Amino acid sequence: MHEASLQSVRERLQAAASVCVLTGAGMSAESGIPTFRDALAGLWSRFDPAALASEEGFRADPQLVWDWYAQRRDAVHRAEPNAGHRALAAFVAARAGGVTVITQNVDDLHQRAGCRDTIRLHGDILQDRWLEACPRTVACHARSAVPGRPPRCADCGNLVRPGVVWFGEMLPVHAIDAAEAAARRCEVMLVVGTSGAVWPAAGLAGSARAAGAFVVIVNPHASEIDAQAHAVLRSTAAVALPALLGTPTR
Ligand code: APR
Repeated sequence: MHEASLQSVRERLQAAASVCVLTGAGMSAESGIPTFRDALAGLWSRFDPAALASEEGFRADPQLVWDWYAQRRDAVHRAEPNAGHRALAAFVAARAGGVTVITQNVDDLHQRAGCRDTIRLHGDILQDRWLEACPRTVACHARSAVPGRPPRCADCGNLVRPGVVWFGEMLPVHAIDAAEAAARRCEVMLVVGTSGAVWPAAGLAGSARAAGAFVVIVNPHASEIDAQAHAVLRSTAAVALPALLGTPTR
């Protein structure tokens, strides 16, 4: 792993027939959405992520966890895709199928920028789902939930929870399988804004490297997967991605 010149990385990306991009919370930091670990700053700093982002934590205090996600949902609604999201979406559109975007993020900024086929490993914070499988007929699910913090099913008392993958939960099988396949077949893997702290997402860079891909990391700080990179750019998503992926200025 070495600090690379942005130009050398740009040339590799522009020449590659297949590119896989893995993003983490740092991708949305310049849109004003705190990174996952930063999101535990301020009011939430006294909580352990696992206490808030887990089924056990939700069952222990549904209102606390619901309120934390409600605050994060508000931040997503207020946010706009940044220059990094936009540069990546333009690159995907220009490469017509040669680029796969995989994200750990639960916001919708890649999608709002135009990356509609993004593989979402950890779900969608803007989606709701039921906490329990409904013990009665599916009709129970069809009714609107009783408003509350959290809302609950009017018939069976089931609680509504955010549609995200919590600590200790399995990732959607189709998502991690597609992500692993994309990592193993790409020529260049571009990893943007992740600490590499959470598996199996953190393993994707190693899978790509083992399959022969050139791995690039964009992160202003060191991450737990820097050793998997052939090249590291100590930069941010909104600065580096337009320079790496943007169409050449005439
Ligand atoms: N541009 C690029 N990277 C940035 C920026 C930026 N502007 N700002 C911060 N970063 C980097 C940080 O240096 C850090 O390495 O983004 C990374 C954010 O790390 P985390 O907060 O750990 O987020 P992430 O890696 O996405 O977490 C992975 O952990 O808790 C789970 O489900 C949660 O999806 C999340 C997963």
